[in-house]
Amino acid sequence: MLDALYRLVRPLLFRLDAETAHELVFRGLPLVPFLAGNRRPDPILRRTVAGLEWGGPVGLAAGLDKEGIGVRAWEALGFGAIEVGTVTALAQPGNPKPRLFRLVPERGLINRMGFNNAGAVALAATLSRLRAAGGWPKVPVGANLGKSKVTPNEDAVGDYLNSVGALRGKADYFVVNVSSPNTPGLRALQDREPLAKLLGAVVPAAERTPVFLKLAPDLEDDALREAVEVALEAGCAGIIATNTTVTRPGETGRLDQFGGLSGAPLRTLSREKLRVVLDAVAGRAPVIGVGGIFTADDALEYLRMGCAAVQVYTGFIFEGPGLVARLHRELAARAHAAGGFDALLRG
Ligand SMILES: Cc1cc2nc3c(=O)[nH]c(=O)nc-3n(C[C@H](O)[C@H](O)[C@H](O)COP(=O)(O)O)c2cc1C
Repeated sequence: MLDALYRLVRPLLFRLDAETAHELVFRGLPLVPFLAGNRRPDPILRRTVAGLEWGGPVGLAAGLDKEGIGVRAWEALGFGAIEVGTVTALAQPGNPKPRLFRLVPERGLINRMGFNNAGAVALAATLSRLRAAGGWPKVPVGANLGKSKVTPNEDAVGDYLNSVGALRGKADYFVVNVSSPNTPGLRALQDREPLAKLLGAVVPAAERTPVFLKLAPDLEDDALREAVEVALEAGCAGIIATNTTVTRPGETGRLDQFGGLSGAPLRTLSREKLRVVLDAVAGRAPVIGVGGIFTADDALEYLRMGCAAVQVYTGFIFEGPGLVARLHRELAARAHAAGGFDALLRG
């Protein structure tokens, strides 16, 4: 029903400016739990990631639901985990519009949203209301944290700590996002010294909540290895790789817009960088793979490389609300045929 509806409206949505389409779809989110039916992943797909039980290996990547208003809808659509945010300590409008662009033939997006969000305190209130109403999902909900634009990098630690303070106990995991390309200077926080200072403060402040670090695909391999080492030394629970790229592989450069590129054109770079991250982590912590996943084969490839789980964003925009349930159904069928999920991963 929901999928048929999406097939019907997708051509119309894709004729609208990308952010207008996004806003329109978001108005319908409260209906999703009623329309979706049962899309809970087959129990054969359950994964434990940093001590948290994911319903299935495909989670929602950060950025789609910056304010946590669709958590029930994402659960109903079958996501194995839900990452909300990025939120910043201070509410901020983000960059001027237009700031989100489709590359339809390539199945990519370019965005320069710039962390438009209502702030960490507002997200905390939304998540608290959900919990109080008994609507907390059966899958983990992570809060992705970024730096407020007006806060200079020297004061970044305090800014992130304000977000942690607001959200501690309200989210199942945190992500320190230092890899979005649309906040000036943010990616410099991936360098050894500022990163060690930041994570050295955030991890203890998060107390028992696991903290992940999300990395950019534009870092050189050595810088990625260094960031992984700093993260693990600081006690991070895992790594998420990758964020969007400022590079323009293939034909994507013809859309003359600055910002982060995601979706199918990001996939090769994400996979390359993911390999570097997985090698550097060497099994010491879970790695969540993200970048250009559209099919069960795409997801399986990242999982077979050693990712504990994967996330999608752009694939979901192009393929629609049925994508996640479809990926999980296919993975479950293959896991049953192989005699279990681990057997499927061994291939
Ligand atoms: C419009 C848009 C906004 C995004 N916003 C965020 C964000 O706020 N925080 C973040 O960590 N990643 C953000 N991302 C990056 C995604 O979470 C993901 O890492 C990236 O898009 C690669 O995955 P994909 O190819 O499946 O989209 C955003 C991506 C898009 C397309």
